[in-house]
Amino acid sequence: SAAGLATLETMAADLAREAGRLIVDERPDGLGVAATKSSSTDVVTVMDTRSEELLRARILARRPEDGILGEEGDSVEGTSGITWVVDPIDGTVNYLYDIPQYAVSVAACVGDTRTDGAWHAVAGAVYHPVLGEMFHARRGSGAFLRAPSGVHALSVSAEHDLGSALLGTGFGYDAAKRARQGEVVARVLPQVRDIRRAGSAALDLCAVAAGRLDVYYESGLNPWDLAAGHLIVEEAGGKVVGPGGAAASSELVVAGPSALVDRVRSLIE
Ligand code: IPD
Repeated sequence: SAAGLATLETMAADLAREAGRLIVDERPDGLGVAATKSSSTDVVTVMDTRSEELLRARILARRPEDGILGEEGDSVEGTSGITWVVDPIDGTVNYLYDIPQYAVSVAACVGDTRTDGAWHAVAGAVYHPVLGEMFHARRGSGAFLRAPSGVHALSVSAEHDLGSALLGTGFGYDAAKRARQGEVVARVLPQVRDIRRAGSAALDLCAVAAGRLDVYYESGLNPWDLAAGHLIVEEAGGKVVGPGGAAASSELVVAGPSALVDRVRSLIE
């Protein structure tokens, strides 16, 4: 119901704010790499783990019947039909280096989160704790940015000229994949205004929603990088597609105004 979605949206924002404050307030001096995951470049800090523990505890306390899927390994099977897909720090490498471009992403999702294209977020929030920017949306109600300057309704850019488009992208942690991503950049870069690699997929998607980037694309995203931002772009009037123009997936995500998304996708594919 509409009231149910509004409750989920408020909860997503509350959780993202609380975890976001934790990672800023308790970031240890001399923060190091606690562990590596898929490759030596895929790092985890103690604060990724603490942030996810906080998110998990809050979700289980408030909605014990829901499922959880988290970047740092949380996987709770729920019975309510809602699964919280959470990224406790999106932009971990920025966080490690104290570059103030990272976020907490929290999304309430329906469907089978283990299968590409078989699930989607119905409410979500992405919180940039250093700037105090909260991006949030629920299905069918628009996307908003709550910032120190006030509340702003979001809409994607009106750009339709590829040559004037500012693109964002990101790179995965696998060396072979990075080599292919470099080839794609070499092909795309001469055709657009410029490309940014800001380091947080969730914030890149929110930047598209806010018109701060025209288009964002990446291959190899995980559900937690994508879940909330995907909804926020769509609710800001944008289009999000994947391989061949089908649903966005771990293979490919292209997000932006519909006038540009398919052209960028065909350039990449
Ligand atoms: C990463 C960031 C990065 C993107 C990577 C993601 P993490 O997430 O979103 O911008 O290029 O693909 O894995 O590891 O910092 O949560």
